Amino acid sequence: MNSEMLEKSVPHAKPETQNPIPPINVLFVCLGNICRSPSAQGIFSYLANKRQGPVTFIVDSAGTHDYHIGNPPDPRAIQAARKAGVDISHKRARQIRSKDFADFDHIFVMDERNWRSLMAICPPEHVNKIRPTISLLDQTNFNGVPDPFHGDTDDFDSMVQLLFGVCEATLNELEQQGQG
Ligand code: 4NP
Repeated sequence: MNSEMLEKSVPHAKPETQNPIPPINVLFVCLGNICRSPSAQGIFSYLANKRQGPVTFIVDSAGTHDYHIGNPPDPRAIQAARKAGVDISHKRARQIRSKDFADFDHIFVMDERNWRSLMAICPPEHVNKIRPTISLLDQTNFNGVPDPFHGDTDDFDSMVQLLFGVCEATLNELEQQGQG
């Protein structure tokens, strides 16, 4: 690359106009990454994008198991989210990888089984990042977000409604932390 190309391709940094608050990295985790965690990812992003505050988020989701790697969300999850105005159809399932524990600031699990799976593989220096998605409940004794996979349409609608509530609460908490 010659100096003229370099001049054109590198944006001129203007420190005074840059966001001083680094983005907060948030990962949602469930078992298959086709029902709960992609829904949480989509809903959290949707709600975060509607806010005008200075705190920004990088949001992703993953599964503890490899059953559905590369697959889109369950059609019932896509439909339930769509009814609530959220498009999650572009998401493709992936499995948690060891790098995630370092890359993300907060890792929200959907239920106790997910929590146990992650605690079994998480490096000790990152275990404090792992929390229930329903974060106000006790970490060692919580019912979590019910798995709708073997349920019906109503179960998926209930999951979406529950996730809207917990994502709002989580956003409030993380925005406060981010500004503090
Ligand atoms: P998720 O739901 O963990 O919310 O994505 C499930 C998806 C698939 C399976 C179980 C739960 N499964 O057994 O294949």
